[in-house]
Amino acid sequence: MISESLEKYISNIPKTELHLHIEGSFEPELMFEIARRNNINIRFKTVEELRKAYQFGNLQDFLDIYYDGANVLIHEQDFYDLTMAYFRKCKENNVVHTEIFADPQTHLSRGVKMETIINGITRAREDAERELGISSYLIICFLRHLDEDSAIETLEEALNYKNEIIGVGLDSSEVGNHPEKFKRVFARAKEEDFRLVAHAGEEGPSEYIWGALRELNVSRIDHGIRCMNDEGLIDYLAENQVPLTVCPLSNLKLQVVKNLSHHPLKEMLNNGLLAMINSDDPAYFGGYVNENFLQTAEALNLSEEDILQLAKNSFKASFLPE
Ligand code: HPA
Ligand code: ZN
Repeated sequence: MISESLEKYISNIPKTELHLHIEGSFEPELMFEIARRNNINIRFKTVEELRKAYQFGNLQDFLDIYYDGANVLIHEQDFYDLTMAYFRKCKENNVVHTEIFADPQTHLSRGVKMETIINGITRAREDAERELGISSYLIICFLRHLDEDSAIETLEEALNYKNEIIGVGLDSSEVGNHPEKFKRVFARAKEEDFRLVAHAGEEGPSEYIWGALRELNVSRIDHGIRCMNDEGLIDYLAENQVPLTVCPLSNLKLQVVKNLSHHPLKEMLNNGLLAMINSDDPAYFGGYVNENFLQTAEALNLSEEDILQLAKNSFKASFLPE
């Protein structure tokens, strides 16, 4: 059992969140509410039935349900409500700054306009800053199961909202979609001074992390836990203090690790890696940032010093100015 004082320490310490998909913060209650007002049918009858379906054998199992859930988001107000609900969770978790991922292609392909997505999220970001004192950035991710031309088209459209977007990322089905596939679109994003991040080494091998670093020139790796099989890569990541946005409950729920006690996070810290704790898709994986901290601290016997290090790393790895 984790001590009450460590629990308090975890909930009180200020944190940033650097790996959060806004569509993955979509709680079933809000999903049903938005579906109702948009006259869209959900294939589950109740919130309970939907939650019961959240059993995943791997990343693809999750992605199928996650893209399905996003289908009810149509209007600017839907994106606003979704984002505002996440900011309220940030407040509860003492997340004082967050760098939110959104997947425009998931919505553009259904006829939702880029303007609708960006304006809804941006309005919530402004209100959260003013009303809750939480700062944030927006990162748009390209879906790696689609082709690079679609990503390029998405980037060109996103350039109309350059002031609202700090960077680009890469998510969705990893294995079989090597980072190299997106070399041109990341080069183009770099020319536009976007910050670059990519999911790599979640289900895919360490070679995908090398690919994201060398072919895409990313400055931060999302997940990255598979680096632990590659001594040369561990050395490189430690030496260059490349941030790794680790998501323990995600790794557990997607069966990337069998058990949280097998999670490599503690070993990553021991190797001097700039890792921190994030929630990824908290509505689907059973917890926001504090819950990720709590369960990981319990499973890996983390100390107050470890928690402090993880929180410090989250600030250091953020795109906030010094
Ligand atoms: N991995 C890849 N794609 C994703 C994830 C993830 O953890 N969450 C949402 N899209
Ligand atoms: Zn993710």
